[in-house]
Amino acid sequence: MLRDASCSDVISFALGLPAAELFPAAEIGVAIAHTLDRDPCALQYGPASAALRSHVVRLMALRGVTCSEEQVFLTAGAQQGMSLLARLLLEPGGTVISEELIYTGFQQVLMPYECETLTVPTDPDTGIDVDAVDALFARGARPAFIYTIPTGHNPIAVDMSAEKRSRLIDLARSHRVPIVEDDPYGFVSYGESPAAPLRALDPEWVYYIGSFSKILAPALRVGWVVVPERLMALLGVLKEASDIDTATLAQRSIAAFLDAGGFEAHLARLRTEYRSRRDRMLEGLGKHFPDRACWRVPSSGLFVWVALEDGFDADLALRRSLVEERVAFLPGSAFAVHGDGAGRNCLRLSFSHSASDRIDEGITRLGRLLGRWRGP
Ligand SMILES: Cc1ncc(COP(=O)(O)O)c(C=O)c1O
Repeated sequence: MLRDASCSDVISFALGLPAAELFPAAEIGVAIAHTLDRDPCALQYGPASAALRSHVVRLMALRGVTCSEEQVFLTAGAQQGMSLLARLLLEPGGTVISEELIYTGFQQVLMPYECETLTVPTDPDTGIDVDAVDALFARGARPAFIYTIPTGHNPIAVDMSAEKRSRLIDLARSHRVPIVEDDPYGFVSYGESPAAPLRALDPEWVYYIGSFSKILAPALRVGWVVVPERLMALLGVLKEASDIDTATLAQRSIAAFLDAGGFEAHLARLRTEYRSRRDRMLEGLGKHFPDRACWRVPSSGLFVWVALEDGFDADLALRRSLVEERVAFLPGSAFAVHGDGAGRNCLRLSFSHSASDRIDEGITRLGRLLGRWRGP
């Protein structure tokens, strides 16, 4: 289906790709040329870039997180961050707490461990069900870690409430279980005062994962984790075993790009453009989707999560949508950890990588399909 979805006549809201036309390609080109020109080791194996780590410390400060360069570990994207942290924390056959519907890349990370994933629901207004996490602990759960995406949740597009943020941290502290906070969308926020990451509330029990993929360019494959300093050496061993080091040229070029200034202006531009695409999609949903569909306004991230009536089959809707309307999206069931029908009546729509007129057209077509929907 994903192959069909990538045909040029299909309007795709399926993948969370950043908008290619917003990549600062010329500036990245200048940074790469500058790095190659001035830095004889840019094409060599090399240690993590100290300059980039100190930029990451500054970026984290913009989000209200205080950390030091000694706590910043550079990775090949957020995906590698979660993979290394799982390797560090999880024994084969161990236990993890996650949400019922969660980023599929995380589920892939867990696969080789054949672990038990204890799941809790996600409230579309306030995020992870912290009472359910509490209940798991009360029943004796001893997970290696709790994984969550507090800001710009993928797929449910919710920001965790402030109250839940502090309660989740209290649970982590009292049970001495780390939280792995995956935050690739944290800088892509649309509200006046976005919530600070969990890591801003606890430097000991929150292991933070960040990424340049959504805010610069995913092909550079650079992300980072912020962890207590004592874990850095172990992560270093795991990283070396995995891919030796994060591409030296990419790290140093991103540092040069950030040295040049203008990153905050770039972020502001991204937020403005994504907010306008988000609003365009919401406007289309209001006009063209039937009354039985409901959704929230996402304050961060790149997705809108649409729920239809119980019994609606979004997998079937996708198959029909591709044939009848040439529009792609991801059905909620694609994100279900236990494949038990969770999310089956829901659609995840990505607004990031379609121009506004394509958003209008795609939502009109999808609305048409839902309007004549009579089930199987
Ligand atoms: C929640 C989440 N985590 C991690 C990733 C992977 O990011 P990266 O490109 O930095 O590896 C994605 C990508 O879409 C994501 O949605």
